[in-house]
Order: sequence, then C-alpha cells, then structure tokens
Amino acid sequence: MDIGIDAIGLFTPHWYVDLVDLAHARGDEPAKYTIGIGQDQMAVTPATQDVVTLAANAANQLPADSLDERLGMVIVGSESGVDESKAAAISVVKLLHLNPWVRAFDIKEACYGGTAGLLAARDFVAAHPDKTALVIASDIARYGLASGGEVTQGAGAVALVVSAQPKLLVLHDDALAYTEDIPDFFRPTGMTVPVVDGHYSTSAYLDFVGKVFARHQSQYHDQYGDYAALLFHLPFTKMGKKALAALAPAMNDADHQRLTERLAAASQLSRRIGNIYTGSLYLSLVSLICEDKTIRSGDRIGLFSYGSGAVGEFFSGTLQPDFPNRIDQAGIQQMLSARVRLNVLEYEQVFTAQLPLGDADATVPVEESTARFSVGGRANHARWYRDQQQEKGV
Ligand code: HMG
Repeated sequence: MDIGIDAIGLFTPHWYVDLVDLAHARGDEPAKYTIGIGQDQMAVTPATQDVVTLAANAANQLPADSLDERLGMVIVGSESGVDESKAAAISVVKLLHLNPWVRAFDIKEACYGGTAGLLAARDFVAAHPDKTALVIASDIARYGLASGGEVTQGAGAVALVVSAQPKLLVLHDDALAYTEDIPDFFRPTGMTVPVVDGHYSTSAYLDFVGKVFARHQSQYHDQYGDYAALLFHLPFTKMGKKALAALAPAMNDADHQRLTERLAAASQLSRRIGNIYTGSLYLSLVSLICEDKTIRSGDRIGLFSYGSGAVGEFFSGTLQPDFPNRIDQAGIQQMLSARVRLNVLEYEQVFTAQLPLGDADATVPVEESTARFSVGGRANHARWYRDQQQEKGV
C-alpha cells in the first residue's frame, strides 16, 4: 500500500529583515551573508506568533479537502515550544476545530523532530490505512542579536497531511537513521537561545551526510542517477551546497548538474525565510515544487534530515500526478509578497519585545497581519489565542 504526503501547508510571519541591511548594521560584507552563507532575508517573529499559532496558521493553508473525519493523529515537531508539559498539538486541535478523536502529541529532537513525526505518522497510517495524520513542523530560530548565528535565524511552520494513496509524495520504505551524542547545538531548559558551536555543527552535519548516504547506498543499492532531486535540511542554504559538494566526488557530471540545479530551486524559499528548524527540510520540498517547473510526477526525491545533538536520516519518495495542486503555490507567493520589510532597529525592538516566558498575566497588542491565528496573551498562567476569522464572524 502506498503511504505518504497528501498535501502541504506553509506559514511564515509577515515581517522580515533584508540581510544586506543586517550586514551593514553588523559591520560585515553583505556578500558574506548573501553568498558565503547563502541567505537574502530572514523572517522576524512578532510577539503575536509562537509555535502554536505558526503551526495552526500552516495547517490553515492546507487544501480544503485534506483534513476530514479520517484524521487520527496530530503531531507537532518543534524545539521552540512554549510549555514544558502540554503539547502544542492539543492547542492546534482546538484552534482548527479538528476532530477531537485523535492522538495529539509533540516530538522534540532539534531540527529532526518534524521528520520523526512524519515517519511515525507513516507507520500509524500503515497500521490504520483508513486513518490520516497531521504532522506540523513549527519553529522559531533565535540565536540572539549580533550573535554568530543571527544571520541564520528565521521562523515558520510546515503542515503535512499523511495518508494512504497520497496525492503529493509516496514515501518509500527506505528510511535510514544514524544517532550519535554530540554537543554541536543544544538549549538547556530555561535558556531562550541555544548553546552552539557553529563551525563544529557544520562539520558534524557533513560527517552525518557522509555516513548516512554511504550506508543507504550499500543497504538499498540506490545511485545518484535514481534521484531527480536531493533535498537537505537547510539551516542556511550554503549548508545544502556543502552537503552536495561532499557527495559530488562519487557523482557523474550529468547527475551533479541536475542535482545542483534542483538544489538551487529547493533553496529559494529558505533564502527568503531563513532556518525554520524542524520545517526546513520540508520548506525545501515546497520550494522545489514552487520554483522548479521541470520536475515531474514519477520523479524520485531524496530527503536528508539533520537535528543537532544529533540524528541524521535519509529517505526518499516519489512525486504523484496531482503534486503541484497539493500546495497552495499562489497563496505562498501572496504571503511572501505581502510581507513588510523591517529596518534593523525595528527588528531589534521586535526581537526583545516577545511575550516573556513565565506565567504572569499579560496581553499582546493586536496588530494587522496576514495570520488567521495569533497570540492574545496569558491569563491564569495559560496562553490564549485569537482567531481572526472567528472575531470577524467569518
Ligand atoms: P561565521 O563564523 O560568521 O561565518 O558563521 P564564516 O566566517 O564561517 O563565513 C561563512 C562563509 O562565508 C564562509 O564560507 C566564508 O568563506 C564566506 P565557507 O567557507 O563556509 O564556504 N565569506 C564570504 N563569502 C563571500 N564574500 C565575503 C565573505 N566573507 C566570508 N565577503 C555559521 C557561520 C554558519 C557558523 C554561523 O552562522 C552559525 O553558527 N550558525 C548557526 C549554526 C548552524 O546553522 N549550523 C549548521 C549545522 S547544524 C544544523 O543544521 C542544526 C540546526 O538547524 C539546529 C537544530 O538541529 O536544531 C542549526
């Protein structure tokens, strides 16, 4: 039985910073950011968005027919949750008025949490083919003002519906994971930004790429010629180029050229949104579909997921005939073109004006935005959320 991704929804906040502006403010060469790191813009998260609202807003972008009474499981993969105990997935069920007869929970393993959710959902549907699952990878990447990782921040969520006979991507039974305890990036409880050794994390990622691809090829006998595109977790788009370059010596010229061109298409949205941690690999799948008009139904796509700490996993899928229609491509373009560019001072003010962690009552000022769901504030220790549609009586 074929199981895989039936539809995808994407959401990113309505503010961004241009990285040439940021480079000037930090005294760096703009080319370091736009070429050396490979980022043009980064999403800035208003106080009205957290991982719950990002997740609900992403699921709200799914095609209307993709969530129905077959839904049996809701998973949020995230490393920027707002509660130490309660799952963001439960709030998503409430906000979207989903069928409550579901299993709802969160998964955490750095940027790998979305993939863990997707593959758990695949197994769930294999055991219950009449059911579907909603997996949402939702994160806010924050490294701190003027920090080494600042230029690789971002925010957004990707919602994936997993079903039997999926209309977008059939997942193959070839997932191969590697886990090793390393201190490349982690965020101890109570800290708002991670402890990260940027250069070490980059070489650890490449080490995992080498190990996982070599073993995948020896176990599943796949070759680079089998793939129309290879997608990678993109903490910044140069990382994908580095990963492909690490594999290139074993490729012929035609494979190398095809995979390079497709990786460039798959990197376009990340260049504009930044790192969205758990969702970054799936953002590159959305980008490939939106930006590359040469991929076809039947094409095999390879996906490499990496979460610091660290887990690396490679798996593949085959595009289905209706794949271009299972993402609201026009809606994504509209969402991006409606974004407002902040100057660096405005971005710095927004960065420090988030709803503080803790449990004191607070209200977040309402603001104009494209988001249906937003954070209202905190009352009696719990966050509460606004639904623009409900408030307007839609
Ligand atoms: P840095 O030290 O500021 O930058 O930090 P750099 O000096 O290494 O320069 C970056 C690149 O720009 C270099 O190219 C330079 O040569 C080039 P490379 O050698 O890498 O090919 N460069 C220029 N190019 C053109 N014109 C110029 C110029 N100047 C320099 N004028 C770093 C960069 C990525 C380390 C930093 O941003 C960082 O710490 N980021 C956060 C950590 C990160 O993203 N790690 C990635 C792997 S780990 C991962 O993916 C997991 C993660 O998503 C978290 C999770 O799993 O939850 C992070």
